[in-house]
Amino acid sequence: MSLLKRIEKKDPAQTLPPPSGAGSGGAATPPPSSGQMARQMQTPAPPVDKLVELRARLLSKIIAELDPKLDIGRADELRRSIEELFNQFLAEEPDIVLGRVERQRLLEQLTAEIMGLGPLEPLLRDTTITEVMVNGPNMIYIERNGKIERVSARFDSEMHVMRIVDRIVAPLGRRVDEGQPYVDARLPDGSRVNIIIPPLALNGPTITIRKFAKIPLTADDLIQRGAFNKEFDEFMKACVKARLNIVVSGGTGTGKTTMLNIFSGYIPNDERILTIEDAAELQLRQEHVVSLESRPKNIEGRGEITRGDLVINALRMRPDRIIVGECRSGEALDMLQAMNTGHEGSMTTVHANTPRDALHRLETMVLMAGFDLPLKAIREQISGAVDLIVQLERMRDGTRKITNVAEIQGMEGEVIISQEIFRWESGGVKDGKVLGQLRATGIRPKFIEKIESYGIFLPPNIFGLDPRFYQ
Ligand SMILES: Nc1ncnc2c1ncn2[C@@H]1O[C@H](COP(=O)(O)OP(=O)(O)O)[C@@H](O)[C@H]1O
Ligand SMILES: [Mg+2]
Repeated sequence: MSLLKRIEKKDPAQTLPPPSGAGSGGAATPPPSSGQMARQMQTPAPPVDKLVELRARLLSKIIAELDPKLDIGRADELRRSIEELFNQFLAEEPDIVLGRVERQRLLEQLTAEIMGLGPLEPLLRDTTITEVMVNGPNMIYIERNGKIERVSARFDSEMHVMRIVDRIVAPLGRRVDEGQPYVDARLPDGSRVNIIIPPLALNGPTITIRKFAKIPLTADDLIQRGAFNKEFDEFMKACVKARLNIVVSGGTGTGKTTMLNIFSGYIPNDERILTIEDAAELQLRQEHVVSLESRPKNIEGRGEITRGDLVINALRMRPDRIIVGECRSGEALDMLQAMNTGHEGSMTTVHANTPRDALHRLETMVLMAGFDLPLKAIREQISGAVDLIVQLERMRDGTRKITNVAEIQGMEGEVIISQEIFRWESGGVKDGKVLGQLRATGIRPKFIEKIESYGIFLPPNIFGLDPRFYQ
């Protein structure tokens, strides 16, 4: 169904953004009162409710008039038609006088309502914004340069938010309602969206959009941002080439996926890579990549394909490497088994705050797979599979850094033994910026032999060792 047809089925009166700021987006201030807005205009703006009514009228007239055959894909044509109709219908409004700025804004809002995601549209277009968070109709936050700020854009009502939600999920054949009050979805540009609605969300319909970075951050970008240094980068290149199994650990938004993407970039070009994700985010530059996406239950609660199912299937696809975007539950066991049975060089991310915590998380996730395995057996699986844990943290100034890099060495009795190879050394805070650096601990990892067996010889000073003793 074309977008236009879908819009036509809805009650347009409900889909209106409010006059203040919506559509202007991006401004990092709380919404100004309508009085303030009016003072800023050269031509005194009509009262707010008049504007709301006007917008509702214009919207329904424009939608009624737009050629139903018009293809949403032909955006330029649609935009031109909307503008023509807008001018025509506005001229028919005898008591409304709008200033140039006000008029332009109204046109933009109407276009965004008809063609896109209403008040979210300018925020999604702004490439400096990395995340958009809607907490009910009146509160929209964004993240820019790692910092969260509130913007003046807002929705008209909960109904208005719900209509935009519908517009996001309907093309995917999904819906959000009482029976299915939260969903993960994706925008056509690849941005990831989570939606959760009342009564589960007390603020009103809540939308969280992780915008898809069209150009993913590179290792050089991250070095420049102080996430890690050149020596560490060299170390990681060696670890990936030598097929170590790597787990990237961190909290939400600490840059796990970004890091996984960078590490995957070090896989040699002649290897067959299989990626498994809930919503494809990884952007590998290699040619020989097969991307698999899991599938949630459908409306009848059937048809689910989990990440674990995909790992098992991937084993039959002659992979050289398996990359699981995120381990969150039972698939951890499948992943560990794959790592332990000749699919070395695999990578994943887990949600944890320290490398130790990551090991605990893996344990818990294996238990979630539902096999009644003794803890010791689980730990053996983990210590046998995982070679390296890279820990990420988000600092107070919004930057993300690697804070810990630990080698998993094996078991001692019932306990997994790990050894820190790099550690973040804090240098305090200056002018709001977090200072410090990633330092080698002086420990030479045991897996260095494996790296050397691939003909890669890292200089000892990478590990903080005196080169004179390691000729
Ligand atoms: N080192 C970094 N410095 C600044 N921003 C970063 C850094 N790493 C990632 N980001 C940005 O942070 C956001 C979250 O990154 P992502 O890798 O998706 O996190 P996670 O997978 O941990 O949730 C993205 O917008 C990404 O571009
Ligand atoms: Mg992620």
